[in-house]
Amino acid sequence: MKTIFVKDYDEMSKKGFEFMKEVLESKERPVLSMTTGGTPRGVFKLFVEEVQNGLDISSATIMNLDEYMGPRDAVYTVRTFMYENLYNLISAKPENIFLIDGAAQDTDKEIARYKEILDQYPRDIQLLGLGTNGHIGANEPGTPFDSTMFLAQHDESTIQSTMKEYGIGREEAPTEMLTLGFTEILAAKQVILLVSGKHKAEAVKALLEGEITPDCPATALRNSDHTVVIIDEDAASLLEKEY
Ligand code: PGA
Repeated sequence: MKTIFVKDYDEMSKKGFEFMKEVLESKERPVLSMTTGGTPRGVFKLFVEEVQNGLDISSATIMNLDEYMGPRDAVYTVRTFMYENLYNLISAKPENIFLIDGAAQDTDKEIARYKEILDQYPRDIQLLGLGTNGHIGANEPGTPFDSTMFLAQHDESTIQSTMKEYGIGREEAPTEMLTLGFTEILAAKQVILLVSGKHKAEAVKALLEGEITPDCPATALRNSDHTVVIIDEDAASLLEKEY
């Protein structure tokens, strides 16, 4: 795992977007798998700006890491986020848009359908955020490191973060998510983990300086040679070692 230390949220977003732009400009049929939430909003802004300024995405495939179980157009869904923060804001369209269906009745069938897409479109980049409890995707603490795409139950801290991020109450907040497992996350050619803010500092310390353990899911990435973690000063504020 490589670490890149940056000053603040804006620099993290710029750096994260550079990796995506590199792939979009160099690959014939680039495949990007995005994450949603507070962390990548800055990356999405840059992405929209660049596409509006002519960055070619006509042969790109864009997909996602996970999806909340609930009505497709609920305010908190990954689908809603992707349309509001990207697809509705750009005049050019990617060749393929794939989303996980969080309204699927038969989740096993939905997992099988999405896994086929993952097989057909090997990802150049998997973008990730880090949960305050160290989760990646909805791989919450305790998830075995050999997990494959599954229906995950959220930890309470994750439910609270979702409520805050989308301004919703406890009753409306989703409690389950279809998520890629560690296996599919690490199968991407590059894994880019973005981390910003003091509230992530404990998780960053566990990620970089704690034991490799399912208690801190992101430590599953520690020995990966194709993972880059981009960390801002606030998120790095509890680190003790020199990097
Ligand atoms: P956040 O969530 O980007 O909204 O902080 C990170 C995550 O849970 O992956």
